[in-house]
Formats: sequence, C-alpha cells, structure tokens
Amino acid sequence: MKKKLVVLSGAGISAESGIKTFRDSGGLWEGHDVMEVASPEGWRRNQDLVQDFYNQRRKQAKECQPNEAHLKLASLENFFDVSIITQNVDDLHEKAGSTKVIHLHGELSKAQSSIDPKLIYNLDHWEIKKGDKCEKGSQLRPFIVWFGEAVPKMDEAIQLAMQADIFIVVGTSMQVYPAAGLLDYVPKQALTFLIDPNSPGSGLRRDIVYIQKKATEGMKDLEELLLGQNF
Ligand code: APR
Repeated sequence: MKKKLVVLSGAGISAESGIKTFRDSGGLWEGHDVMEVASPEGWRRNQDLVQDFYNQRRKQAKECQPNEAHLKLASLENFFDVSIITQNVDDLHEKAGSTKVIHLHGELSKAQSSIDPKLIYNLDHWEIKKGDKCEKGSQLRPFIVWFGEAVPKMDEAIQLAMQADIFIVVGTSMQVYPAAGLLDYVPKQALTFLIDPNSPGSGLRRDIVYIQKKATEGMKDLEELLLGQNF
C-alpha cells in the first residue's frame, strides 16, 4: 500500500513557468484592484472588465508549460499515492501528468453558467465572449471561485489532508482561507514540508521541514530526500 502524499500548491509553483504570482512584487494583484476583477460585485459592476482579465490570463496560460517542480510531483506517483490540491487555476499539474488534481479556486480552462453554477463547460479556445451563453440562456462566466464565493471542493481537500502521511506545501503565501487552513487538518505524525524561496512570515506553527528554495530546486531536494528514505 503506497503512502499518501498530499500537496497544497499555490501560484509560486507556476512562477518558473512564466505565470505571475499574486502577492509578490509585480504580482498579478499589483496591477488590479482584486475586488474589481475577482469578486461577484466586480462581475456585476463590469462584466467586460472581468471577462477580459480572465481572457488575458487564459491566453497566457495556454502558452505555458509545466516546469520541473510540476513534473517531479507527477513522477512521485510511481512511489506514492499522490493527491494534488491546488489554488492555481492553470492546468500545469495536469499537463505535467498528475492524475489526481483538485482545483480549490476553479479552472481557467472552463466556463460556468452565470445562473446555474452546476453548468460547467470545457473551453477549447482562450476567449469567453459577450453573448456566449449556457444551455439555460445566461452569459458564461469564468469558472473561478471569486473572493466571497464558496469553495465547493474544500471538504474533499480536508479529507485528503486528514489522511496524509506526507504533506507538501509549495509556492503559496498561505494568506487566503479556507485553503490556508488545510495545514491544520494534517495529522501530527505526518511528515510536512514547505517549499518557498521567501520566508513564511510569522514562522511555522509546527515541526515543518522548511526548504527555502524555488519550487524547481526545492522539489529536486525533496525528491532525493523522499526517495532516499525507505518510507
Ligand atoms: N517557487 C516557489 N515559491 C515561489 C516562487 C518560486 N519560484 N516564487 C514565488 N514563490 C512564493 C512566494 O514567496 C509566495 O509565498 O509563492 C507564493 C505566492 O503567494 P501568492 O502570490 O499569495 O499566491 P497564492 O498563495 O497561490 O495565492 C492564493 O489568492 O489571490 C488569490 O485565488 C488567488 O489562488 C490565489 C490565492
């Protein structure tokens, strides 16, 4: 029976693939008022602005490729039962070959009905246009969990965190809840690692092994460590 390895990833893991993070200097939110482009109120106020913001991100993400960190997480499936819980809306974990990926904050590659959240559609192009409608006749919106909206997959993520033998946090500032709270569900006896080149601010709340490196470097170290031990 393979040990359960659970990952919580954030924008930092996609940084070396050319996708901006949110809160680093020059980050995505630096150019925008978050609530203008990532909240239901912003959508109600100016649908074109919101639609264009995500069309631009979708167009950019389509050109990006997974980096060594994504690829190493995918290859760990040969040795562990790996579940990826990501806050990212790009599909780089899937492109790298990870087979179990939960997107807590939605997916750029999908559109959602603006009157029935259960209606979700794969997008094979980068643009959602005004007039693109769901089967019930309402305008399609980005399939993104905006600030103030529920995080439907959180319960599933909590169940995974509670069963982890190994828990890896990579590339997230741990500032956005409920995602950041997942760490609290990880069993005390689990091996927990944090990979981030910037120190985690107020210090770590538990015996976390902290790898202060970029994701591609940190994952190389972690892979050696995990495969070197006989778990
Ligand atoms: N490798 C690893 N980590 C990195 C790298 C890198 N190359 N570059 C930056 N980081 C780290 C930063 O130090 C920071 O801790 O990645 C983290 C990025 O933090 P944020 O920009 O806050 O991104 P994230 O934590 O994913 O944001 C969470 O907030 O805006 C919402 O919905 C959005 O999903 C997002 C959520």
